[in-house]
Amino acid sequence: MLEELLSQLNTIRDEALAALENAKTEADIEAVKNRTIGRSGAITALSPMMGKIPPENKKQAGMAFNEVKVAITTALEAAREKTASSAAAASAIDVTMPGRRPHAGRKHPVSQTIEECCAIFRRMGFVAVSGPELEDIWHNFDALNAPLSHPSRDVKDTFYLSDGRLLRTQTSAVQIRTMEKEKPPIRIISPGRCYRRDTPDATHGVHFHQIEGLYIDTDVSLADLKTTLMTFASEYFGREIAVRMRPSFFPFTEPSVECDFSCVMCGGKGCNVCKNSGWLEIAGAGMVNPKVLENVGYDPKEVRGFAFGFGLERLAMLKHRINDLRLFSDNDVRFLYQF
Ligand code: DAH
Repeated sequence: MLEELLSQLNTIRDEALAALENAKTEADIEAVKNRTIGRSGAITALSPMMGKIPPENKKQAGMAFNEVKVAITTALEAAREKTASSAAAASAIDVTMPGRRPHAGRKHPVSQTIEECCAIFRRMGFVAVSGPELEDIWHNFDALNAPLSHPSRDVKDTFYLSDGRLLRTQTSAVQIRTMEKEKPPIRIISPGRCYRRDTPDATHGVHFHQIEGLYIDTDVSLADLKTTLMTFASEYFGREIAVRMRPSFFPFTEPSVECDFSCVMCGGKGCNVCKNSGWLEIAGAGMVNPKVLENVGYDPKEVRGFAFGFGLERLAMLKHRINDLRLFSDNDVRFLYQF
């Protein structure tokens, strides 16, 4: 009888210890307790056997009961401690983990280009001014001496509102607004958005940015224009850039010139960007037409000046080797994050 009892007690203990070894949760541990030392557990169920144990063996049987209970109780305690500390570890903050970086916004490449250009011209004494994108015909065309038949006035090329106003097609309109307000000398640049009814492609957009320059004083010449653009180009591209002028026509300048920069990629040797010419067409420019000076109430015998205008995106595209103008307005963060 004693043998039988001891062997059953041992089996219960061994199973309980093995189960506790694998216990993952509080509930696993409670279950082991309930089916062993609990009130309706296996050990409790063995107690009636004590009655059948011969008196000389009772002491040994009692000690065996105790030993097994103690072993299981100790194992229960150890298992509880283990699960409690691993739960705490799971919920604790790991201060050694790298932090999550907040997504910081950044300036759009066009804004960056505007700021760079303004900073360079500012160092040459030009003040940045702005004008409205919603313009009237006077500032965008008439005062700039654009003949009534000029193709750019056509509804095919310009966005008109029903009240006769328009989305400006060129920042040149700001020349007029500035001269109407201020007396010479004037030295301004004006970056801003322009609109044209173009079919968008890699080099044309329905909207794009220009930067306009105007310098009016008593003694301004084409040589000043050339120096100004040369200085600007070399600063902006960070290398020596030559400027070449070719005769051209704009209603608001006389004479008018097209300004080319020596190729910023090959330095003028010839490459596929400059189509092997060594030159890039960048700016329209010229000496302000006396008619324009008269239109704003200046006396062309007293003052004169130069003006220029060029596309901002084109400049940024050359500097950053971007091959499609549409990337600037797609708002694809994979593109924007590179600047
Ligand atoms: N407004 C001209 C354009 O959009 C560019 C331009 C040419 C501006 C000559 C000027 C200038 O100020 O003198 O094509």
